[in-house]
Amino acid sequence: MDAQQQWRTEVEQLVRVHGRSRTALMPILQDINRAHSYIPEGAMLAVSSALSVPRTEVYGVASFYAYFSVKPRGRYVIRVCRTISCAKQGEYHPAIATLITELGIGFGETTPDGLFTLEQTNCCGMCDQGPSMVVNEDVHVRLSEASVRALLTEYRQRAGAELKH
Ligand code: FES
Repeated sequence: MDAQQQWRTEVEQLVRVHGRSRTALMPILQDINRAHSYIPEGAMLAVSSALSVPRTEVYGVASFYAYFSVKPRGRYVIRVCRTISCAKQGEYHPAIATLITELGIGFGETTPDGLFTLEQTNCCGMCDQGPSMVVNEDVHVRLSEASVRALLTEYRQRAGAELKH
C-alpha cells in the first residue's frame, strides 16, 4: 500500500466515525492532528477528496488554528502559557529556562529525536495555578525547575514504553 493509499484508508476510518459532511472536517482534522502531532499533506488530500471539500479550504483550516500544524512536530507538543497572569507567578522564568536548556531547543522548534516540540500559547484556563503548560492534551500547573525536569523524564519514559509496544 503506498503512502497516499494509507492516508485514504485512515481517513475512511475517520469518515465512518464522523460522517462525510462538511461539518466532519474539524473533528477529522483534530483526530489526524492528535494521532500524528500534525496534519501531513497526504492526509489533507485524502480529507479533501473524502469530504468533497476543496484542498485550499482543508489547508486553510489546518493552517489557521494554532492547535493544528501542517509541519511535522514532536510526539509531545509542549505549549507554555505566555499570558501575563502565569508569567508573574511562581518560578515562571526559571521553569521556562529549564525547559529550553533540558530540551536544547527554542520555541517553534522540535528536538532532533522527534520527541518534543516547544511552543507558546495564550491562557489555557489555569491562571490561578500558574505557571502552566499543556503537553498534547494534558495540563500541568505550578511549574518549577524541579517539576519541569520531572515531567520531561516522565514523558521520555512514557515514549520509551510506548515505542516498545
Ligand atoms: S494566564 Fe496562564 S493559564 Fe491563564
